[in-house]
Amino acid sequence: MKILFFDTKNYDRESFTRELTGQPGIEVKFLKTELAPVTARLAQGYDAVCAFVNADISRGTIEVLHGCGVRLLLLRCAGFNNVDLDAAADCGIRIFRVPGYSPEAVAEHAMALALSVNRHLHKAYVKVRENDFSLGSLMGINFHQKTAGIVGTGKIGAAMARICHGFGMKVIAYDVHQNPELMDFATYVELDELLAASDLISLHCPLTDSTYHMINTESIRKMKDGVILVNTSRGALVKTDDLIEGIRAHKFFGVGLDVYEEEGPNVFEDRSDEILEHSVTARLLSFPNVMITSHQGFFTREALSAIARTTLENVHTFEHGGSSPNEVK
Ligand code: NAI
Repeated sequence: MKILFFDTKNYDRESFTRELTGQPGIEVKFLKTELAPVTARLAQGYDAVCAFVNADISRGTIEVLHGCGVRLLLLRCAGFNNVDLDAAADCGIRIFRVPGYSPEAVAEHAMALALSVNRHLHKAYVKVRENDFSLGSLMGINFHQKTAGIVGTGKIGAAMARICHGFGMKVIAYDVHQNPELMDFATYVELDELLAASDLISLHCPLTDSTYHMINTESIRKMKDGVILVNTSRGALVKTDDLIEGIRAHKFFGVGLDVYEEEGPNVFEDRSDEILEHSVTARLLSFPNVMITSHQGFFTREALSAIARTTLENVHTFEHGGSSPNEVK
């Protein structure tokens, strides 16, 4: 099995090389370039390609991969909203993903964002470095005994719910399927009730037609004044222009975003020398109560090892003709 890895960084190469030890049947090549229609032809002669969350795996890419003889698409991530599933089915390319490499990694980052914007850690860090030991503008709120609203209670949402419960918060949740693991301490409510009752809202559902722009002017209006909103799921769950309008209207105590609509060209790139034109991200960053990180929720040592391990298990499943819940159809 020959696998071409797209968009790899040092840490990908290290974690996969470690897991590949003792697997002589798998030959890999790591590329820095991203998978897209124009780069897909590099896969000529490979059985499989491995791509990450922001690859452009549209019909154009898939048809080129098919022409190159690729039969397997390995996503080293959970989300697959960037893949044209119909095109893959038409071309007979099977797709596997890594659905739950470390839910705690993402959930802990969601809580880190919530705490940072609540206690203004991003500002406090800079102030103290400048010998400014005053407390002005750093006042936060206790999470203890406040209400956390978890939207989407799959693996990551459930981990976030447990963390919030550990903080002594009342946990309410909204999902199209209820998770029995949370019944001991969380209460399922309708989305509108969650929006109205929560002091902290954390988004953990996938991006689909029904969740696209679920946070918009109307849903923001239903939220409590002074709410903290955290999104570590997918940028397009939130309509950015409406969020900016809500921030300007002083609706939010804080906003923590690990994902945002414009992130595509930014993710994992150093663009510090560039002048970013037409950037709503820059507008978001101009607000003192907004903190943005660049899709790093998954980025822990444990998660990277688990991603590599599961991706290689997916290769074995494919090779031995087996079935797996990791397959995306
Ligand atoms: P999961 O599949 O275990 O859980 C998703 C939950 O969302 C399910 O319980 C599902 O029923 C629910 N859901 C689906 N449609 C919904 C709707 N319309 N309204 C409310 N709930 C709905 O997925 P997991 O592993 O918990 O991941 C959640 C999301 O986190 C992923 O889709 C991905 O977008 C994001 N993610 C972000 C990472 C990061 O680094 N920031 C890393 C990994 C995942």
